[in-house]
Amino acid sequence: MIIQPRTRGFICLTAHPDGAHQAVKNQIEYVKSKGEIKNGPKKVLVIGASTGFGLSSRITAAFGSDAATIGVFFEKPASEGKMGTAGWYNSAAFEKEAHASGLYAKSINGDAFSDEVKKETIELIKKDLGQVDLVVYSLASPRRTHPKTGVAYASVLKPIGQPFTNKTVDFHTGVVSDITINPVENDEDIANTIAVMGGEDWKFWIEDLKAAGVLAKDVKTVAYSYIGPELTFPIYRNGTIGQAKNDLEATVPVLNNLLKDLNGTSYVSVNKALVTQSSSAIPVVPLYISLLYKVMKAKGTHEGTIEQMQRLFADRLYTENGEVELDEAGRIRVDDWEMADDVQAEVAKLWNQISTENLSEISDIEGYRKEFFNLFGFEFDEIDYEKDANENVQIPSIE
Ligand code: NAD
Ligand code: NA
Repeated sequence: MIIQPRTRGFICLTAHPDGAHQAVKNQIEYVKSKGEIKNGPKKVLVIGASTGFGLSSRITAAFGSDAATIGVFFEKPASEGKMGTAGWYNSAAFEKEAHASGLYAKSINGDAFSDEVKKETIELIKKDLGQVDLVVYSLASPRRTHPKTGVAYASVLKPIGQPFTNKTVDFHTGVVSDITINPVENDEDIANTIAVMGGEDWKFWIEDLKAAGVLAKDVKTVAYSYIGPELTFPIYRNGTIGQAKNDLEATVPVLNNLLKDLNGTSYVSVNKALVTQSSSAIPVVPLYISLLYKVMKAKGTHEGTIEQMQRLFADRLYTENGEVELDEAGRIRVDDWEMADDVQAEVAKLWNQISTENLSEISDIEGYRKEFFNLFGFEFDEIDYEKDANENVQIPSIE
């Protein structure tokens, strides 16, 4: 079928399999260009492996240090004239490229929050790898069904305490406007968001993996967090999602204790704000990202998910002397270039000026738009989008 982008709000309803393959190839080329990650991981489980930071983590492990990878995600294959999701096509492309390079790569498509998928993953590790030495936890989801109680939680993206008014952009139309987001009305919204995006499920995974004996000695596990600038604090770090990130970060000492006898370590890495399916859903943030991109590209410090994850692995998690640099709160920071004083000062200055009229001039809204469509396999020069594409792409390891 001919596949073109079709959007509704901040989501893209279509995805291009060949474009997704191109995106994966580009990431692989980048990792290879940076050379081998010495002391890198060898057997890796990535939970949330099909898009965004998780996909880039998987690519970095596989093509940076020849790691065998198992990826867990929740995606849809094509069916009855409907195309598959971007993450499905990404994962198909990743497996094909990994296999062509002689690397082990298998995937599990299902609800990572469930006990069943955890069991299935453990069985696969036992059968094929024995143990894993790195567990990447990169889920981003609007809902979670609790595996022990069956309660279904939905997260919300809201401020806490008072309404938050600031500028936001519709990146399809380029209209900048003020948005007011009302605060949570009760503590339940906060608790629900923590239940979905906090640390409990990460803990459940590590507990189950450990109990099954599939974690190697010296195992590492890493989950991803975000802080960002003051201007997004009310909606991000001090909002409901920030409470979930606090909970995720507070899980680190709990897991360190659990992994002590394996000499294992758990980390939270604070990553840069980037265009992903998840971040495009947060009000205000896409406009901030458009300005951030403009400033960081001008300074030559701009990174995408693959540059971030390659740097996380090579310069933080797997350094040559084995030391992992942490901030005062015990977190890895690869948002350091985003948070640099000069970058933030310039973004803050532009933030005060930004309007519909000057959007294309003083922000990188074009870059934002392009990266957004790239997430779904669109706007790659190498792909002819007028040509028939085969949407029925299989992931080799999934029947
Ligand atoms: P993403 O939407 O690109 O990826 C989410 C992944 O989770 C996908 O692989 C998806 O299939 C998987 N997933 C979702 N629900 C699932 C389920 N029930 N079962 C199995 N898999 C499921 O998101 P992302 O932006 O890469 O976010 C990953 C992490 O990085 C999150 O913790 C996010 O908060 C964090 N982070 C994101 C940013 C950013 O700007 N995007 C910045 C810093 C940190
Ligand atoms: Na991810």
